Amino acid sequence: MDGGTVVVFGATGGTGRLTMERLLATTRFNVVGAVRRPDALAGFAPEHAASGRFRAVACDLMDPGPGDARLIAALDGAAAAVFAAGVADVWAARRGTTLYSEGGGALLRAMRAAGVRVLVAVTSDGVLDDPAKPAVYRWLVKPLLLRRVYEDMVALEQAIAAASPWLKWAIVRPSRLLDAPPAGAAARQPWIGEGLMPPGSGGWVARGDVAALIVACLEGQARWGRALTITC
Ligand SMILES: NC(=O)c1ccc[n+]([C@@H]2O[C@H](COP(=O)([O-])OP(=O)(O)OC[C@H]3O[C@@H](n4cnc5c(N)ncnc54)[C@H](OP(=O)(O)O)[C@@H]3O)[C@@H](O)[C@H]2O)c1
Repeated sequence: MDGGTVVVFGATGGTGRLTMERLLATTRFNVVGAVRRPDALAGFAPEHAASGRFRAVACDLMDPGPGDARLIAALDGAAAAVFAAGVADVWAARRGTTLYSEGGGALLRAMRAAGVRVLVAVTSDGVLDDPAKPAVYRWLVKPLLLRRVYEDMVALEQAIAAASPWLKWAIVRPSRLLDAPPAGAAARQPWIGEGLMPPGSGGWVARGDVAALIVACLEGQARWGRALTITC
């Protein structure tokens, strides 16, 4: 893919916003930010908004409208979608979410209805059982705080995989997201691959590197139909 419109869900979030910036800066895609509060993107990329390359649409993944009409409208004419939505509050995450299964499920239905056949979705490397992760994460953080979110992410991953071959898809599974690399780690290139991160990885990744991978996927630089872990 090297043109058309990409609709980014979770566009006010860290990764979604950086993905839109990168799409506008380095590709020929037009960009639609699908957000619950379009005001939150007021002033984003003003030159691209003025030229028509960027616009925001109001859209709540959990309120897709009758027959998913609001989501279908947000996707109108698009070539691809990015799912970068998430639950920012760890306590809300602990209570559980259906954002991935229900919201992502609605997105998949709407994509089919709108004829949008390319999806890059962000979940987490937490969906994998990694014995190399720190004990505090494996025995406390994951089971007590994040288990339900990961279960919901797995449901979305399964729904995406089941949409093959109609859907061209890539799943991006970052480890812990940081806005910027920790001091001294700036030059580190992320590891990207299927399955568990290699031993000795730091277990974090900068959102900018995740955005770069999402854009690379959209440009067809990775084989479709794979879940890619990204970590430093
Ligand atoms: N944080 C981490 O360490 C970590 C690690 C691995 C994976 N991840 C996953 O990576 C993804 C991106 O994370 P991030 O930290 O960059 O995102 P983030 O800053 O937490 O942003 C979350 C985004 O999701 C949107 N959203 C939430 N509910 C929505 C709904 N019902 N409809 C539409 N949009 C909705 C939010 O919109 P509003 O502005 O309207 O709230 C926001 O734009 C998430 O799926 C996250 O779970 C995170």
